[in-house]
Amino acid sequence: MSKVDVLLGLQWGDEGKGKAVDFLAPKYDVVARFQGGPNAGHTLEFDGKKHVLHQIPSGIFHQEIKNVIGNGVVIDPIVFKKEIDELAPYNLDLKSSLILSNKAQLILPTHKLLDKALEISKGNEKIGSTLRGIGPTYQDKIGRHGLRIGDTIEADFESRYNRLKDQHLSILDRLGFEEEHEAAEREFFDSLDLIRSFQISSTEYFINDCISAGKKVLAEGAQGTLLDVDFGSYPFVTSSNTTTAGACAGLGIAPKRIDQVFGIFKAYCTRVGSGPFPTELFNEEGERLRKLGNEFGATTGRPRRCGWLDIPALNYSCMLNGVTQLFMMKADVLSGLDTVKICNAYSSNGKHTLEFPFIYSENYEPVNEAVEGWTLNAYDDYASLPSKLKEFIETIENKVETPISLISLGPDRKETVLKKI
Ligand code: GDP
Ligand code: IMO
Ligand code: MG
Repeated sequence: MSKVDVLLGLQWGDEGKGKAVDFLAPKYDVVARFQGGPNAGHTLEFDGKKHVLHQIPSGIFHQEIKNVIGNGVVIDPIVFKKEIDELAPYNLDLKSSLILSNKAQLILPTHKLLDKALEISKGNEKIGSTLRGIGPTYQDKIGRHGLRIGDTIEADFESRYNRLKDQHLSILDRLGFEEEHEAAEREFFDSLDLIRSFQISSTEYFINDCISAGKKVLAEGAQGTLLDVDFGSYPFVTSSNTTTAGACAGLGIAPKRIDQVFGIFKAYCTRVGSGPFPTELFNEEGERLRKLGNEFGATTGRPRRCGWLDIPALNYSCMLNGVTQLFMMKADVLSGLDTVKICNAYSSNGKHTLEFPFIYSENYEPVNEAVEGWTLNAYDDYASLPSKLKEFIETIENKVETPISLISLGPDRKETVLKKI
């Protein structure tokens, strides 16, 4: 019996999960998304082309691999159709390689309107949601009146859809929000026809059968640990469990089936949307990271906020997820700097703390350490990387007490170096 490896983000999302999954995928038989939905934007680059996936797992370009959209995911059929259309030039047999859980929840056009209306109603306190309908869809799931992919083939689907839509319209009415949804509704029903033509099943059986047959499964996280609904910087979070526990619930895998947990982090930090960010840089250093790191959202195009690496947050994420190996992404973006900073602790009212706070108050200051920078030249392997970069890597390994086994030095699949652990 084999085990499942989990790959997930340790920061506020956009760590480079898409690239890492695509890089590792040839070692696996199955890649499975376990939470989130079209709020995710996972970028893959190879053969001079860039691809952004939102709901479809990042193993999709490897035809021999099965890609599962698990029960923990929320699916927008309209986005799904667009993603399938964009994959058309690659002649992939998606009907055989993509499998959808019958239990994944459906994002209705009115969920997106609710997302918008609720954000507007929050004023300055807005979360900075991607407005993809994620929060309202998970709310309906937990409230036990959501609609699932498997419901779309039932005879009473349309009447259940109308009932839920009417509930949404009455909330929108109370919020004083008005926007037409009829065009989106037509697109929604057209897109459902496409979804129904794919394999839809109780994917928890499929995945557990694969495990029993000795096949290798990689669970692909979306968002990041600091956006987790329980442990992130609440309420500035997403509406799902982005942690290893979310992989168990979002795919139907028992905890004892989890083997390696790959924790992905950038060599610095970014955040898109509102919420606390202790190491955020508001100066030209932050601007430089944004420019060189091309830090603009893969889903919404919004500029990402940038700051130095946050060790207390990284330690917190490793603890919550049981990370066994770290992957450090975007080390190339720091190339050419005289010094690079690392936040070792937070200072609040003259006291130092290593704990990720319940609420970050305004007076949380990062306690930074400056380390010598490096300039990246041609490299073949870990040994050929600049010595100061290797020192930086070892410093983080010591601070987080977890080995770094993969270093990413550019967006392309090939710009990746493995380190023996
Ligand atoms: P994800 O949501 O975690 O999959 O990450 P995104 O795709 O939203 O954002 C990561 C961005 O960084 C994408 O534009 C990637 O192409 C890019 N990227 C990934 N790894 C690296 C790297 O090591 N160096 C650089 N410069 N870019 C990278
Ligand atoms: P990937 O998988 C970065 C952020 C939004 C907002 C908050 C809530 O590409 O790493 P939501 O739409 O979920 O209600 O938004 O979470 N957010 C992400 N930030 N990467 C993501 O996904 C994100 N998905 C949501 O910006 O602050
Ligand atoms: Mg992203």
